[in-house]
This record gives sequence, C-alpha cells and structure tokens, in this order.
Amino acid sequence: MSWKRPAVEQRMAVFLEDLPSTISGNILDMGTGDGVFTRLLKTRYPNNFLLQMDIQHYRRQGNEFYQGAIQAPPHRLQSLSLIVCAQVLHYLGPTQQKQAISALLSVLEPQGRLVIIEYINQTSRPWLPFPLLVDDLEDMGFSPFIRRIIYDQDKWRPKYAAYLSGESMQ
Ligand SMILES: C[S@@+](CC[C@H](N)C(=O)[O-])C[C@H]1O[C@@H](n2cnc3c(N)ncnc32)[C@H](O)[C@@H]1O
Repeated sequence: MSWKRPAVEQRMAVFLEDLPSTISGNILDMGTGDGVFTRLLKTRYPNNFLLQMDIQHYRRQGNEFYQGAIQAPPHRLQSLSLIVCAQVLHYLGPTQQKQAISALLSVLEPQGRLVIIEYINQTSRPWLPFPLLVDDLEDMGFSPFIRRIIYDQDKWRPKYAAYLSGESMQ
C-alpha cells in the first residue's frame, strides 16, 4: 500500500484483507459515495468488472454506475461475486434495512460474498440514525462468517465492524 494513500483509505483497506486474493466475477460497491471502497477494490481486483450504486449521483470510478435505492437493485445487477456495502444501512429504518439485506443477498451468486461495514454503536446519533449491530443483521437473515473490528485512533475504542459472509476465505 502506498504511503501516499489518504488516511481514510488506509484505515478502510483492512476490511478487505479477509477477502480472497482473486474473485471470479463482478463486484459491486453499494452506497459508493465518493468511492473510497471503489478505489480500494479497483486496486485489489484490477481485472474484475466493478459496479457502483448509490441513491445519489456520483462520478463513476469503476466500470458502471447506477443511481437508485439499495432496496431495489436494477436487473443488471445479478450473480455478483462480491458486494461491499459500507456505512449505508444505518441511514435506513429497520424495515428498509431488512429489505436492503434481502436485496443484496438476492443479487449475489451462490458462492458470492457480502461485506457489510457499520459503526459499532448502539446509540442513535444525527449521523447514525439507525445503528445496526451483528444481532440485528442475524435477525434480518444475514449471518456473517467473519467479523473484523477496527479501533478508533486511541486504539481502545472499537469503532467499526466488518461483517463478511462466504463459503471460504481462500
Ligand atoms: C456515509 S456514505 C458511505 C460512502 C462509502 N460507502 C464509504 O464507506 O465511504 C453513505 C452513502 O450511502 C448512500 N445511501 C444512503 N441511502 C441509500 C439507499 N437507500 N440506497 C443506496 N445508497 C444509499 C448515500 O447517498 C451515501 O453516499
């Protein structure tokens, strides 16, 4: 990893470390925002077709960009090998969160992997209206295989968790 990479990308890169070094099919960065994970995924998987989707319009940085809601992915998004959905679900209320998780699972190929990254925080805040913890995810039908925690800069407070599904990490 280059020392020039912005700090936020360096911190987020750790979430992709549990993924296999190669992925066979298409990859989606759901709720891409300004593309932190798109850039990381592009570096890690330079030969895969990389899709982005967000409810707002953003500049395309992968191969295709779709504007729309996570709960209703377009038909083009099918049989994906990997989806990263980072810091998106806490904007949705519980019913929509459940719909969103079902929608994400429905567009994965059978051996596909889903990575959900969320703050570890039970208290609702203006910037975190609907916190989502692992128990909530399991109640909504997503049972992660690996959970990775990263700590705030003081190294003592857990800040984010990545929840990852998939048959095997190799
Ligand atoms: C905090 S940003 C996270 C951006 C990026 N994933 C990251 O980790 O840096 C949340 C993003 O989720 C998008 N978003 C919010 N609700 C959404 C929805 N229902 N469907 C798709 N994207 C949504 C927002 O537009 C925003 O770009």
